Amino acid sequence: MDNGYNLWLNYSKIDDASLLETYRNQLQTVFVTDGGATMDVIKRELDRGLGGLLQQEVRFEPNPTFQNQLIVSRYAELGEDLRTLVDPADLTSEGYFIRTIENKKHRMVLITAQTDIGLLYGTFHFLRILQMHQALDGLQVMESPKVDIRMLNHWDNLDRTVERGYAGFSIWNWHTLPDYIDQRYIDYARANASIGINGTALTNVNANGLVLTPHYLEKVKALADVFRPYGLKVYLTARFSAPIEIGGLKTADPLDADVIQWWKDKTKEIYDLIPDFGGFLVKANSEGQPGPQNYGRTHLDGANLLADALKPHEGVVIWRAFVYSEHDDTDRAKQAYSEFVPDDGKYRDNVLIQVKNGPIDFQPREPFHPMFGAMPKTPLMMEFQITKEYLGFATHLVYLPKLFEEVLRSDTYQKGKGSTVAKVVDGSLNHKKVTGMAGVANIGTDANWTGHPFGQADWYGFGRLAWDPYLDSGTIAEEWLRCTFTNNENFVGPVKKMMLESREAVVNYMNPLGLHHMFDTGHHYGPGPWVDNLSRPEWNPVYYHKADDEGIGFDRTKTGSDALSQYAPELGEKFGNLETCPEEYLLWFHHLPWDYQLKNGRTLWDGLGIKYQQGVDQVGDMIKTWEDMKPFVDEYRHNQVSMLLGIQLKEAKWWRDACMLYFQTYSKMDFPKEMEKPE
Ligand code: GCU
Repeated sequence: MDNGYNLWLNYSKIDDASLLETYRNQLQTVFVTDGGATMDVIKRELDRGLGGLLQQEVRFEPNPTFQNQLIVSRYAELGEDLRTLVDPADLTSEGYFIRTIENKKHRMVLITAQTDIGLLYGTFHFLRILQMHQALDGLQVMESPKVDIRMLNHWDNLDRTVERGYAGFSIWNWHTLPDYIDQRYIDYARANASIGINGTALTNVNANGLVLTPHYLEKVKALADVFRPYGLKVYLTARFSAPIEIGGLKTADPLDADVIQWWKDKTKEIYDLIPDFGGFLVKANSEGQPGPQNYGRTHLDGANLLADALKPHEGVVIWRAFVYSEHDDTDRAKQAYSEFVPDDGKYRDNVLIQVKNGPIDFQPREPFHPMFGAMPKTPLMMEFQITKEYLGFATHLVYLPKLFEEVLRSDTYQKGKGSTVAKVVDGSLNHKKVTGMAGVANIGTDANWTGHPFGQADWYGFGRLAWDPYLDSGTIAEEWLRCTFTNNENFVGPVKKMMLESREAVVNYMNPLGLHHMFDTGHHYGPGPWVDNLSRPEWNPVYYHKADDEGIGFDRTKTGSDALSQYAPELGEKFGNLETCPEEYLLWFHHLPWDYQLKNGRTLWDGLGIKYQQGVDQVGDMIKTWEDMKPFVDEYRHNQVSMLLGIQLKEAKWWRDACMLYFQTYSKMDFPKEMEKPE
């Protein structure tokens, strides 16, 4: 039984006999340069990886022989002749080269980098090449991450529940830390290092100040010590009112001298324990969390307060822009932009503003957040959600890198055509000094970490896109499939296709044509378009779809909330004009009559029904594809995915029927003939 614990680090024997023979010849021995803890990790990983893939004992040599050898060596320690073969100019401190060298003196594969962490990343890449059965001849790999901070955000509470977590409890066992080091901590670090993730915020953004007390900091230190050799830095969420709750002060006013001193002292205390601590992640004045506005101050005051405390230690503040006001019920989509953009240029240089991919909240589809590209002087960090709060939890198969890719490739037009979100995030659009991408983790204590076996692909894909935001989601899916399951083309081809189509399927059966936030209250699982009784207007689905006897959709053009004006003029025109607005965003930006004519000549009402049906049919196709995959997947995981797809189909129909029956009370039109009658 394979329960999926090993994730994509599946090192089972290469099942192609001739390839196995070739690899064994090319990799007869291994030389790894001496060094500290990271070099030990590299040796252990090669022992495990090569030992498993080649099914033979790995022979580590004390000296390089340069013959049929794998060599892992720091650039500075290479001989002159090898150095001239690689040009380190393009390497950042985390980058690496992998080169096959065959000349008179050498017959070897070389992994080299400026730093030990670069070597570790190179080692994982090299093992991936073997896992994917690629030839070693002529290898010429040069990789450097395009984004500096590539981090997971765990929404894990100290009682081990996980906000929006669907894969069990938190993997941080605060009770047995610091003395008990669960093997999971090590395997977690390995998995992250294998895809280049270099940061982890351990605690929920709805923060508990207690984590900053000595009792917990000692436990955090134990985790940081485990993660360090893997290049993984620890960050903590900072509750803005912590000076009151754990510091005994009367205020948390960011301009108060005692508060300023308290944060300085607290930060120093943390760095004394964890010298490479990453910094603070902060949710302030959002959904009831305390923040500077409680004292008549601004986000800028709050962020700069923490930035000053972190500066001497080279730490950063990651300040979230997920804010919306309970006092303005016109359009929630507009509020973050209005609160942050005017202060562009005033943040300290160790502040990053972390912005969700879209202006509402991790919906199956949203246009990109208008803040991207609109703050040229401030580093904007991308926040994706890997856990599927609004996409069927860990029950539905939805391949998220497809969604991430769509956002990253979106053009902001902020500096003319080609000003993509990816260029904002990697800093190239405005020459940012520090850049970042965060993913809200989908990890828990489930045997396979992510609940749904395919949830692992979302973690994997997030890491790959944080490393290189220009990667293709299809390439990533293929890598993950080959490394996790098998290289058999009869498996890889169809399952990759299924993954790539799964994202559009969920949009179709949940929120087609630009509809959004029609989820049932609180848990966000399943449809609730009729909900209209929640205390804050912008929590009610009716606020978003605005269905009435006339039509449906949110008018965000000049005649409505005018949120569209926050985008570059090119996009204002494109999305504002019904002729040019892509239909996938139609009801995001426009309120239209039920009989509005779509591009295919059908009415909006029919179009909705057809999309809902298409979503259901797509899940049906996924079930068929997966059924054919039985010969290639172990029974345990095959069965898991089959059962989950069965639930997905049932719930796709539930969405279709609930939404269409509800909207029919307004449209008063018959269902289109393409749509199955509600069950
Ligand atoms: C969503 C989610 C909350 C979370 C919040 C956030 O609203 O439902 O659970 O705390 O996002 O990102 O802060």
